Amino acid sequence: MTSALETRIVSAPARIAALGMFAPKRILTNADFERMVDTSDEWIVQRTGIRRRHVVGEDEYSSDLAIAAVDDLLAHHPSVRLDTIDYIVVGSSTPDYEYPSLSAMLQAHYRLPGNVGAVDISTACAGFAYGLNLAAGLIGTGQAERVLVVAADALTRSVDYTDRSTCVLFGDGAGAALVEYSRHPAIFGMDAGADGNGGKFLYRTALRTRINGVDDTSRLLRQEGQSVYRWVMENVPNYVARILSRAGLALDDIDWFAPHSANLRMIEALCKRLPFPIERTLLSVEEYGNTSAVSIPLALIPAVRDGRVKPGQRILLMGFGGGLVTAGNVIVWT
Ligand code: ACO
Repeated sequence: MTSALETRIVSAPARIAALGMFAPKRILTNADFERMVDTSDEWIVQRTGIRRRHVVGEDEYSSDLAIAAVDDLLAHHPSVRLDTIDYIVVGSSTPDYEYPSLSAMLQAHYRLPGNVGAVDISTACAGFAYGLNLAAGLIGTGQAERVLVVAADALTRSVDYTDRSTCVLFGDGAGAALVEYSRHPAIFGMDAGADGNGGKFLYRTALRTRINGVDDTSRLLRQEGQSVYRWVMENVPNYVARILSRAGLALDDIDWFAPHSANLRMIEALCKRLPFPIERTLLSVEEYGNTSAVSIPLALIPAVRDGRVKPGQRILLMGFGGGLVTAGNVIVWT
């Protein structure tokens, strides 16, 4: 059954006004992994496109990455005043604590007033696109005029460094976007989806430790890579089509595609299937690995800063990951 929402154009009177990003200093190369597990630079590059990842130091957590990304936003946009924001939305699956939330920690760090909304969303690699969608909704309904959206993940804190099939994939970082009211809508086609049946392919246990018929008290990330890969190839093209239909656009109207940078080989196959030119696809996987919620801002922000993304251009953001969940939208760069 087609819901009414699928045929209605979805837009928000909101725009991205400022961006910031951060990746930790410590670097793990493929050569480092050759010394840690039975793997090779050739296997990693061929199967994933990853060459390096930036990983947190011993005393570095997602909140530190989030603060550094917001500081970077402020450094690049000196006119931004955080005391004018109404809401903080943080996408992260690796918060420092169950609570306080990362968003509340940011409110405290920047000494923001007590009437700032603060919410963390646990939508894995869809965290940045999901955060933008929620910000657009908060602004569209008049609950907020300015929302700070942050994606921050330190997935390497929950990686099993004895499992070669997952440990080579992940890196850490953070991205921040200030989303503000705009008379001219610049966020379109907001869409989200879930397939909880696929959750068993990618999980980390918590209070409940029994999953897939086994006890896993390690609290480390577990992934059935091939199943997730297949799921992405079978489902993400449909989610992209939904976003386009809700934006009233065709794929030809899109200037840049910014999918979750999980794996270069997978994104190349996805681009072929859509079809969309890989040359106009923004990626962060080679330098940063799979940084979960952060992979889209780590691809988007350098492209904005080096002038590849120009005002008026349309970028399709497509997040997908653990849950399994998806979120996407089309932003017009202003
Ligand atoms: N080095 C060398 N060999 C390896 C390594 C490694 N690091 N890892 C696995 N292998 C071996 C396996 O043991 C297997 O060997 P076998 O044939 O002797 O059994 C062989 O390589 C093939 O293993 P596969 O798991 O089939 O490898 P695949 O080509 O599927 O690549 C990968 C694995 C990269 C994980 C891929 O499946 C993938 O990227 N999947 C999607 C991941 C993703 O998109 N996740 C979503 C977001 S993440 C999030 O939400 C947190």
